[in-house]
Amino acid sequence: MSDNEVLIIFGTETGNAEALADDAKGFAKDYGLEGNVVDMEDITVEEISESKLLLICVSTWGEGDQPTNAEDLYETACESEDGCMEGVNFAVLALGDTDYEFFCESGKEWDNLIEQKGGTRINDRIDCDVDYEDDDECEEWIKTTLEKFSNL
Ligand SMILES: Cc1cc2nc3c(=O)[nH]c(=O)nc-3n(C[C@H](O)[C@H](O)[C@H](O)COP(=O)(O)O)c2cc1C
Repeated sequence: MSDNEVLIIFGTETGNAEALADDAKGFAKDYGLEGNVVDMEDITVEEISESKLLLICVSTWGEGDQPTNAEDLYETACESEDGCMEGVNFAVLALGDTDYEFFCESGKEWDNLIEQKGGTRINDRIDCDVDYEDDDECEEWIKTTLEKFSNL
């Protein structure tokens, strides 16, 4: 893992979070960073804990549930040792729908958990509603986050 690598993990059911993770990888080059996009199903908590720069893109399903591909990882992360995320600088992009009672709940869970395990939040979480593509807010957030990563 190089110093300028941003690990970008995504949890998704229908691909929106993955598409945003890919966008982030595309923008990363502009900040001298190298994006590494990985499905939450294909990574371990240990690998995440070894990252220096971590971007989490995750949607919420069911009634405030993690997407299927994020469930096992989230459960394992909850059971991981306190302090295991020390040295991990992170930010969370949450996708959801305000029509649901538990808006962006899984993103909120990841945001709390990584901090609780010792990670350092470098940008406040963004909670995106279904119309997130209608303006530039989400894209701007990704760019601001990458800039903050590049300045660490
Ligand atoms: C059956 C279903 C359940 C959903 N449940 C929630 C929910 O509990 N909370 C929320 O904020 N969004 C909920 N959503 C909205 C999705 O999170 C949103 O559409 C998101 O953009 C999907 O991203 P993805 O393609 O990465 O999975 C739900 C959507 C569907 C179709």
